[in-house]
This record gives sequence, C-alpha cells and structure tokens, in this order.
Amino acid sequence: DWNMPNYVEEAIAKVREQVGQEEVILGLSGGVDSSVVAALLHRAIGDQLTCVFVDNGLLRLNEGAQVMDTFARNLGVKVIHVDAVGQFMGHLKGVSDPEQKRKIIGREFVEVFQAEAQKLPNAKWLAQGTIYPDVIESAGGKTKKAHAIKSHHNVGGLPETLNLKLLEPLRELFKDEVREFGVALGLPHEMVYRHPFPGPGLGVRILGEVKQEFADLLRRADAIFIDELRAADWYDKTSQAFAVFLPVKSVGVMGDGRTYEYVVALRAVQTSDFMTAKWAELPHELLGRVSNRIINEVRGINRVVYDISGKPPATIEWE
Ligand code: XMP
Repeated sequence: DWNMPNYVEEAIAKVREQVGQEEVILGLSGGVDSSVVAALLHRAIGDQLTCVFVDNGLLRLNEGAQVMDTFARNLGVKVIHVDAVGQFMGHLKGVSDPEQKRKIIGREFVEVFQAEAQKLPNAKWLAQGTIYPDVIESAGGKTKKAHAIKSHHNVGGLPETLNLKLLEPLRELFKDEVREFGVALGLPHEMVYRHPFPGPGLGVRILGEVKQEFADLLRRADAIFIDELRAADWYDKTSQAFAVFLPVKSVGVMGDGRTYEYVVALRAVQTSDFMTAKWAELPHELLGRVSNRIINEVRGINRVVYDISGKPPATIEWE
C-alpha cells in the first residue's frame, strides 16, 4: 500500500541516514527530476545541500530567473548560478552536426560542473535525478540517442572524476510518482507538470549552427507559443510543445516593404511513452493566434509553420 505522505517521510529519513553530516552537490536544471531531488534534499538535509544551476545560453525565456526564484528565493536552497553562456556559445561556434552539438553541450556541462564542484571541497556526494525508467534504460539495450540522453541527462562520468558518492533518491520512482512526490514536497504544480525539456535544450531546436541571435529569437517565439497553449487550456493536453528555429530565410511583406527573415516551426505532440507520438490537432484559431503574435512581436521571424509529422518516422525533436 503505497502512500505518498509516508513515502515522503521515509525518503527524508533514508537520505538523512545515508548522508549523515556530509555535504551534497546537485546539478539543478529546472526540470522535474532534479527539482524534486532538490526539494527532497533541502527538506532532509537543509544547508548540507548546494545546487549548481548552469546557464548554457540554451534555456527557455526567463528559465534561469524562475529557477532562482523558486529554489533560492522561495525555498531558501543554496543555489550557485553559473553564467556559462559565453563558454557554450564559443564551443558551439561553427558546429552544425546534431550529435556533435549534443556531445559538446554534454562535455561543457561536465566541465563547468566540475569546476564548481572543486570549489566545494567538503562535498562528498553527488545527487542525481535518476528515475526508474532511466535505470531500466541503461540496463537494457540502448540506441545511440538513448545513450546520448543518458550521458547528458545523468551527467555520466562525473562521480568517477570527482570521487563523489552517488545519491539517487528517485531511483525507484516512475515519472508520475516523481510528480506526485514533488507536489507532496510543496513544489508548484506548474513546475512539476511541465513538459520534458531535453538536456541539450535549445541546442537541438536551433537547426544547424547555434547562434546567440537564433537562440534569442527562438526563446521569444517559444514563450509566445507556450503562453497561448496555456491560455487556451491546451498545455496539459499535449505531452510536449515547442518552437523550432529554422535557419532559412523567406520573403514576406510588411507595410510597403518586403521582408526577408527566418522561419519558426511549431511542434506539439501527444504521447504516453515518447517512443511513438502523434502530432496534436490544435485548433486552427489557436495556431493562427500564435502565428500572428510571433510574426508581430518577434522581429526577425516572418513565417510560422506547423509540424504535422508523427513519430515514427519523424522524431519529436528536429535534431
Ligand atoms: P525524440 O526527438 O528522439 O525525443 O523523439 C524523445 C524524447 O527525448 C527527448 N530528447 C532528449 N532528452 N537529451 C535529453 O535529455 C537529448 O539529447 C534528447 N533528445 C531528445 C525529447 O525532448 C523527447 O521528450
């Protein structure tokens, strides 16, 4: 008889017993899993926890501020905010191959995290938001992509190089249980029921070479899409929804003049396991509203298209 309040108490007790008086570091991404781990550890061991939040320049609009607000300001969690935008952008310059981009983003994350961890010589533990499906996935056969997901998501290699013990308090939980757990720990519903966001972030939603300018345009278009989805009550009816930046220019007209600007594709899917997915049949007037707002508000984008590809054969992300 699984029961959440008991589970919370047990999980807290277990962490306290495991960790004792030692210190723990956690890479906080703002995603559901690491957020729930942060909330749990803060509850269990308070100031013995230090979170590291890395801004890689590939986050969504205001994401950094939101994480700092929720954790540092409201919950009083110790969070180190690392601005690594220049470092990531520098290493991504001139790189357009999707897997190469993933590798660079994963590698730089490890680099930044390691440098921060070295500033915390008392830390003995590395906490990770590994959940039960991750455990199964790494035990069974894995595709190249599943491996890429793992290696970034669970920052493979860190525990060895840092000589830290691994703390994975969500290892036994399925995603829906992690969410329930998060709510029971007092995290905002909006945070816990967020769509998944890939580790490489906007890096795989900007096709080809990643540029700061593209990321800035994409962030604004994506925020408009998500805003309108929420307003129309469609956010919770989709499993994942986002904008994709296409580095392709097309001709448009504005007032008396022609424009020659970039294209954004909207992607919204419904799925239960992310292995297969169908494109969401969003109302046309909702799509129209999103398109109008993006084109009117985001100078630099003059065309919006909707992705009507299922998975398979298309993937959910465009890279
Ligand atoms: P695809 O695009 O393969 O995505 O249909 C399936 C799910 O996995 C997410 N995804 C990733 N997550 N690192 C991650 O942490 C990655 O490199 C990565 N690639 C895809 C994707 O957002 C979707 O939820």
